[in-house]
Amino acid sequence: MEHLLQSHKITKTDFIRGQGCHLYDEQGKEYLDFESGCWSTALGHSHPRINQVMEAQIKQVVHLGTYYPNRLAEDAATAVLEIVGMNDGKCVFLSSGSEAVEFAVQAARRITGKHLLLTFSNSYLAAYGSAGRKSADEWCLFDWSASTEAEQLERLNEIPFEKIGAFVFEPGGSGSAFVRFPPKELVQLLARRVKQEGGLLIANEITTGLGRTGKWFGFQHYDYQPDIVSIGKGLGNGYPVSAIAMQQELAEKLEHGGFYYVQSHQNDPLGCAIAKEVIAIFREENWVEKGNQTGLYFLEGLKWLEEKYEIVKEARGRGMLLGLAFQPHASFSATTAYFALLEKGFLAGFSPVGNLLRFDPALVIGKDEIDLLSKGLEQIFARLIE
Ligand SMILES: Cc1ncc(COP(=O)(O)O)c(C=O)c1O
Repeated sequence: MEHLLQSHKITKTDFIRGQGCHLYDEQGKEYLDFESGCWSTALGHSHPRINQVMEAQIKQVVHLGTYYPNRLAEDAATAVLEIVGMNDGKCVFLSSGSEAVEFAVQAARRITGKHLLLTFSNSYLAAYGSAGRKSADEWCLFDWSASTEAEQLERLNEIPFEKIGAFVFEPGGSGSAFVRFPPKELVQLLARRVKQEGGLLIANEITTGLGRTGKWFGFQHYDYQPDIVSIGKGLGNGYPVSAIAMQQELAEKLEHGGFYYVQSHQNDPLGCAIAKEVIAIFREENWVEKGNQTGLYFLEGLKWLEEKYEIVKEARGRGMLLGLAFQPHASFSATTAYFALLEKGFLAGFSPVGNLLRFDPALVIGKDEIDLLSKGLEQIFARLIE
């Protein structure tokens, strides 16, 4: 891989095929993918129905100029708005999660005229742009995880709510790489205060959307209605399509207020055909509820490991977004666990900072596959005790 820029860690370079929750390398070795690619193939790799739609659409038209969105974009928008609970709203389709969050951020600033936005300090919002930079002149960052409730209340008083254009909330837990879930009361309080002062609520559902946390969207655990929702990853089941859904009244403000945004792949028919089919499969086969049930089973297994092995500090999760945090140890960490799992044929996520393994498998994964992972983890932990 001497011509591939290493802008991040690369650990294996010979996967050539994927099927359901499995990946296969050049030697034909089978791996269980507990990260669903980059947390995206929610229905599994190479899904036959999605493949069929892609093949058919490729033969029709893949891409159209931005002046010419066709019926597929309207159909996909209707499907997205239905699952978000904004039936009268409006939607736009882009390619990546970063774009979908950045679009929402720009839209909120335009609608409210307020430049400053509020988010949790370690939430990941985008790879670039204002949402990626989170610079101090544009963002008010609130750290909920490192402070006590009393400290949080004190810090709440420091937020200039009257200047906040939007509260951008990532309901996968203030940096879903850490698998942490901010307290509902705090989120509701922040949402209420921002709304009272004329700001908007943006839900960043790039990771948490499409059933990842056991409901259609992560914000549904917090009992509030966002104004704008950014969706990515699972929406394309691995194909790069993202969406921004917003309430009708806000969309009209943008449309009549001279908001201009155009990108080459906006509302492309191939991405829209895929998004529409992904949502149809989710609905017809009830994957949100099924994924939730499997997630509960998964968490039970991880909790059992927490009880049995001292090295496990905490097992936590919501739906199919799960993590296993470790105690500090001289010769073991989440990184060593990651490589030991890879060796055994399991792909998991790992956060050296959080000393945590993370699991975001496809929602279609079976209990047998989860049991295999638990056994693999047990073997790794048992070796530490010997
Ligand atoms: C919570 C969250 N928001 C935004 C993004 C950015 O999405 P993308 O990598 O598709 O640009 C990610 C990506 O991992 C994410 O986890």
